[in-house]
Amino acid sequence: MIKSSAKTSNAGKILKKVLAPYRNLVVVGGNWGDEGKGKIIDLVMAHYEVTVRFSGGANAGHTVFTSDGQKLVSHLIPCGLAQGKECVMGRGELVDLRLFLEELEQSKKVLGGKLPKIYLDQMSPVWTPWHGLLEAWLEYVRGKGKVGTTGKGIGPLEGLYKLRISPLVGQIFLGKKELVGILELLHKTLLPVFKDMKAKNLISGSIPTPTDVADMLLAFTPKIKPFIADTSFVLHQASKKHQRMLFEGAQALGLDSHFGTYPFVSSGNSAAFGAAVGTGLPMQNFDVTLMVVKTLPTRVGAGPFPSEMWQRQEAMEFVKKNIGLFTDKQKKAEFLQERLQKINAQKASNAELSQYFQVLGDERGATTGRGRSVGFIDIPWLTYAIRVNGPKWLALTRFDMLSGIKKLPVVVGYKLNGKKLLPGQLPTPWDMEKVVPVFEQWPGWSENIYGTDNESSLPKSAKAFLQRLEKHVGTHILLVGTGSGREDIVVRQ
Ligand code: IMP
Repeated sequence: MIKSSAKTSNAGKILKKVLAPYRNLVVVGGNWGDEGKGKIIDLVMAHYEVTVRFSGGANAGHTVFTSDGQKLVSHLIPCGLAQGKECVMGRGELVDLRLFLEELEQSKKVLGGKLPKIYLDQMSPVWTPWHGLLEAWLEYVRGKGKVGTTGKGIGPLEGLYKLRISPLVGQIFLGKKELVGILELLHKTLLPVFKDMKAKNLISGSIPTPTDVADMLLAFTPKIKPFIADTSFVLHQASKKHQRMLFEGAQALGLDSHFGTYPFVSSGNSAAFGAAVGTGLPMQNFDVTLMVVKTLPTRVGAGPFPSEMWQRQEAMEFVKKNIGLFTDKQKKAEFLQERLQKINAQKASNAELSQYFQVLGDERGATTGRGRSVGFIDIPWLTYAIRVNGPKWLALTRFDMLSGIKKLPVVVGYKLNGKKLLPGQLPTPWDMEKVVPVFEQWPGWSENIYGTDNESSLPKSAKAFLQRLEKHVGTHILLVGTGSGREDIVVRQ
């Protein structure tokens, strides 16, 4: 996909002015991930020199584009790689060295061998095959209550780090003897679990020994050496030089381990404050936050989702069973047309509404390919997410998905045990299952706004919809996504 320079430069010019007063920008997700942060980062990155990841690991998947329009999917390396920006993988990031090297190789191919400076923190927790085994075990013992993780070892990486028994990236360079010693502590702690797993046939083959794991990690040393750094110091120096920095969030507030829907969360701090935790930069460096929210939020894996249209498991299964609706263009178009008529005739059930938006939005996970469940716009959740993340602006992605819908239910409040909660109040995750959403019917618009790239071209009722949403959440919607292309975006002044 080649960028349309005319369109991009229009958005770019406005953004340059808007972003200029703020040296460092934090971009985070406001729902449960998959908000399209990659697209927003892709757009704002031109205005920054250094791009930084501060949490999560290979569970993330951001699609971005090089300056000549080539697609690049980044999991571990900051998206800034695509546009040749300096890339810093902060200490809060969880590192799988195999995947890091794979991503590096693939990126080299796309970028014609030219890579910008990339820094990998010497003290980030490092993945071993034991992390994968422990994750499989935890999901197994949870049984029906499993989290539905991405299988990238994220929980064990963060958890064992907090237990102070994790190997760190830089320790691979201490020599085999010392590394084996460090790994022995982890191995001894986990061995009873592995033996139990073996007895239950959950492990095929042998359990890797500390020497096996050390050998695996040592094999990476020559390739990763050029990237190892004290990234906190690198960022401190960048700050001293007044370089403009973009902090790229992964996952989203609903998956933050402290302020998300625990235990159905990822294990790091994906909230905006995670930028300080995961980089070691003082708070005053974070000038402004942009929170990306999906017009219709989605969730994969398990956990509370008060505005969900349908049942999670059924919504996920629907994608698997009806993959043709997602991959066959004609089938998809026919299905959408027929379903939209039913929705506008007020004859569609919530399950059918969910199916419509799942197909329309191609709601399948970038990292796992799993089907995503869709929810209604959820103002109480957004108000909470704004309270915790403190964004100056919102980026509302996939707004075009509402095109043609005459009336849309919007969640404007939560009731718990018959009592309406105050704006910004969120029940505990175990009470969230009991929440009764309060709906309003908001009028939509009939025009297709796909690909609209300036505010004046939006239909009057689409503008009114945005203003109504802004009024409810009390935050300016700066960016509005209107399509899958990088240029399909409206910048609102
Ligand atoms: P983990 O991060 O692999 O441990 O998964 C924990 C929960 O977070 C699961 O429900 C995952 O589906 C969800 N999750 C993790 N990363 C992402 C993401 O990038 N997008 C959406 N959901 C995610």
